[in-house]
Amino acid sequence: MILVTCAAGKTGKAIVSALVASGQTVRAMVRSVSSGVAVRALGVSEAVQGDLADPQDVARAVNGVDAVYYIAPNMDPNERLNGENVIAACQSADVLRLVFHSVLHTQIEALPHHWERHFVEQSILNSKLPYTILQVGSYMQNILSAWGKMVETGVHRMAYDTNAPMSLVDLDDVAEAAVKVLADPGFVNGMFEIAGPVISLNEKAAILSKVLGKEIVAEKEALDDFLDHGRALGFSDFTLATMAKMFPYYDEHGLVGSDKALRWILGRPPTDFESFARRTANVLS
Ligand SMILES: NC(=O)c1ccc[n+]([C@@H]2O[C@H](COP(=O)([O-])OP(=O)(O)OC[C@H]3O[C@@H](n4cnc5c(N)ncnc54)[C@H](OP(=O)(O)O)[C@@H]3O)[C@@H](O)[C@H]2O)c1
Repeated sequence: MILVTCAAGKTGKAIVSALVASGQTVRAMVRSVSSGVAVRALGVSEAVQGDLADPQDVARAVNGVDAVYYIAPNMDPNERLNGENVIAACQSADVLRLVFHSVLHTQIEALPHHWERHFVEQSILNSKLPYTILQVGSYMQNILSAWGKMVETGVHRMAYDTNAPMSLVDLDDVAEAAVKVLADPGFVNGMFEIAGPVISLNEKAAILSKVLGKEIVAEKEALDDFLDHGRALGFSDFTLATMAKMFPYYDEHGLVGSDKALRWILGRPPTDFESFARRTANVLS
């Protein structure tokens, strides 16, 4: 049995669905009751409710599984504590594999949510556990929450430079890779970048114009406007402070990795943004 943490989130649902489709038995760890209902609908065998910051909750979730696919909460002040709890529980339960769904470039101190994860990665390396670390780039699917508004207004708006290069990866490719990594002991003691092709907001807008048959332009949203909007939506102070550092970093550097490891794991080229956009437009229109 494989435990997937944060199973009801954007990432968790994709990983759980791919594991269930591949015939694996999955236990899902979720935080809220409603998330338990959501993951049961995906076909998990068990759903365990708990908080990753609570060592007893984590130990209960890990007990009796063969492998753990550790997805951490997004931009969480307890990043290191959550990680230590997962590592300790895996050690006590003698799990055969811990796969950590990390992020690209955890060495970058200017990105606090990446940098904190660097310490979790260090603890995993020192844990003597059979581990695999996947350093995953930004998802193409991040556009979906604003897809309707983009189609309506003709503006693809993000809070960073429209020419900044980003290695965007299709979350479906990530899930396919995760299934392969979990099934193959050859990935033990390995750290792999899971990144897609490089693209800017301007290049995305040009592709979206072609796919949707109407002009889409890329626009940089002023950081203060973005943060005001996030505050109104209820983003935590920690999340807002993290994003206030993330977007200026993207302005200057983007976030670019290599797609070579993903290409090798999948045995095919990773999905490009145009294929993703066509698939999405077919589903949403
Ligand atoms: N988005 C990207 O482009 C991207 C790219 C690479 C890597 N990642 C990584 O993927 C991970 C997940 O991101 P996401 O966008 O999928 O997140 P998400 O959709 O916000 O989902 C996060 C899930 O975490 C659960 N959760 C939050 N705090 C928890 C806690 N203390 N204990 C237990 N469960 C908790 C929530 O459960 P409830 O629903 O029950 O509250 C929620 O379902 C993050 O670590 C992120 O860095 C994301």
